[in-house]
Amino acid sequence: MARRALITGGAGFIGSHVAGRFAANGYDVTVLDNLSSGKREQVPAGATFHHLDITSPDAAALVRDGRFDVICHLAAQIDVRKSVADPAFDAKTNIVGTLNLLEAVRASGARTRFIFSSTGGAIYGDLVEPPTSETAPKDPQSPYGTAKLSVEYYMGYYARIHGLDTVALRYSNVYGPRQDPHGEAGVVAIFCGRLLDGAPLTVFGDGRQTRDYVYAGDVARANFLAATVDLPPATGVDSRAFNIGTGIETDVLTLANMLRKVSGGESAVTHAPPRPGEQLRSAVAIDKAARVLGWRPEVTLEQGLRETYQWFAAQREEAGA
Ligand SMILES: NC(=O)c1ccc[n+]([C@@H]2O[C@H](COP(=O)([O-])OP(=O)(O)OC[C@H]3O[C@@H](n4cnc5c(N)ncnc54)[C@H](O)[C@@H]3O)[C@@H](O)[C@H]2O)c1
Repeated sequence: MARRALITGGAGFIGSHVAGRFAANGYDVTVLDNLSSGKREQVPAGATFHHLDITSPDAAALVRDGRFDVICHLAAQIDVRKSVADPAFDAKTNIVGTLNLLEAVRASGARTRFIFSSTGGAIYGDLVEPPTSETAPKDPQSPYGTAKLSVEYYMGYYARIHGLDTVALRYSNVYGPRQDPHGEAGVVAIFCGRLLDGAPLTVFGDGRQTRDYVYAGDVARANFLAATVDLPPATGVDSRAFNIGTGIETDVLTLANMLRKVSGGESAVTHAPPRPGEQLRSAVAIDKAARVLGWRPEVTLEQGLRETYQWFAAQREEAGA
């Protein structure tokens, strides 16, 4: 019998890549999504779709009775600024919604691996020099980062006290086809739109702030490997956590220039005042994912940006046709 995977948020940007990866590997895939930002047409053909909210009793029932071998939990409120404007809404979705699912896994008594989409971009802060390893001190700068880290601590509790099989994947800044401008690598989507409009690319401050851009297809493969690899029992919050990025810092000016190159666009780069509180440098160390999961990113930034730009261009053509 095929192994069963539940992908929450599987109608969204990264989740749809994850669902596609499990389906391509012969899994019986179920997607749960409230379509608040996801799209039904992004769910891979052949997957069973449930239009549900992760905070609902029906979502809990699906998890409890679904006999899933693996749950990749990606459904979330993903907008850092929205978490600042409404921390309670962020916590309701990202903490309470996740607890609803974890409690359902506990009640099911099944041996389900629960893979949580955490963040490497929003929990480490500026305390240590990048690339940051999993055991570095945590200093989340937003309600979003605080909620993600809280869930990791809850998972530590569920693993220790109830024997749940939990994993946290801490993504850096994920970009690729189907991304929207509100995620942690939103700048790629914004620049692609500006290039297609022939409009200038706005860079805040001097453009030397760095991020670690990882391609969505590589992130999907990390979820797949995390579902299948043997792992020792959890001991503390970082033991089952893996950074998923490239370890490479890319500054915004370099990103803008690379996108101009792959698009052949003529857009100028303009500077706007720096944004207060913006983190200056960010990149995650990925040795642990390589060693334990056998995962490394395979898509270079230039390749990935080309794919992403071409996807946005095709969308634009379709909309205009
Ligand atoms: N994009 C990044 O750079 C990045 C970085 C680190 C972590 N992450 C995490 O990866 C995951 C996926 O993010 P994404 O960028 O694909 O965003 P996304 O908005 O495309 O995906 C989130 C999906 O969850 C669904 N959803 C939202 N609230 C829900 C709810 N209450 N119940 C059911 N479904 C709900 C949305 O409709 C959407 O399909 C999130 O957990 C996010 O925090 C993303």
